[in-house]
Amino acid sequence: MTTPFTIAIDGPAAAGKGTLSRRIAEEYGFHHLDTGLTYRATAKALLDAGLPLDDEAVAEAMAHRVDLAGLDRAVLATHEIGEAASKIAVMPAVRRALVEAQRAFSLKEPGTVLDGRDIGTVVCPDAPVKLYVTASAEVRARRRYDEIIHAGGNADHAAIFADVKRRDERDMGRADSPLRPAEDAHLLDTSEMSIEAAFQAAKSIIDAALSRNA
Ligand code: DC
Repeated sequence: MTTPFTIAIDGPAAAGKGTLSRRIAEEYGFHHLDTGLTYRATAKALLDAGLPLDDEAVAEAMAHRVDLAGLDRAVLATHEIGEAASKIAVMPAVRRALVEAQRAFSLKEPGTVLDGRDIGTVVCPDAPVKLYVTASAEVRARRRYDEIIHAGGNADHAAIFADVKRRDERDMGRADSPLRPAEDAHLLDTSEMSIEAAFQAAKSIIDAALSRNA
């Protein structure tokens, strides 16, 4: 097999790509990187230092200092950090710095799973497997709402739906590396699919690519 073997997973917010990516990485014994956390860690470092979110040179310097080994999902998951991350994710210098680190990660043996918005199009355009995981905005908002309610929190469905739509517009509308499926990506619409069904669909695509690569 040609190693390392990279699986690129893209899609909009709350489509289930995080859960799917972790499951795939576990199945194949590959390293996993949620690239959204690299944007979030950069944003958190700026917030913690009381630095502005609209200064590209300052944000770029912070991006260069992000340690991929120290990304903590529990700490970085807050709405405030997500909002700040989406502001700095439009800056080309920040993207260049983080993409460089993400590419280095993608070379780890024996293989890697990277998920984000621009993995198949920009970060790893030669990845042998590209998945574009999506679901309707209604379904994504409903899943996020259910998640919060199950965790014992309070949620406003209309506000979550508006938030999902706003994040889509930001991700798909930015000039640098907008969210879109790579031409050779397999589309996985999980609107009416369980995570288990999505995993099985992904597994048959990956197994076929691995045997071509053998
Ligand atoms: O998926 P997430 O919510 O953790 O992503 C945080 C922000 O980073 C979000 O605004 C999208 C952006 N992002 C990006 O621009 N490119 C990626 N590869 C991953 C995330």
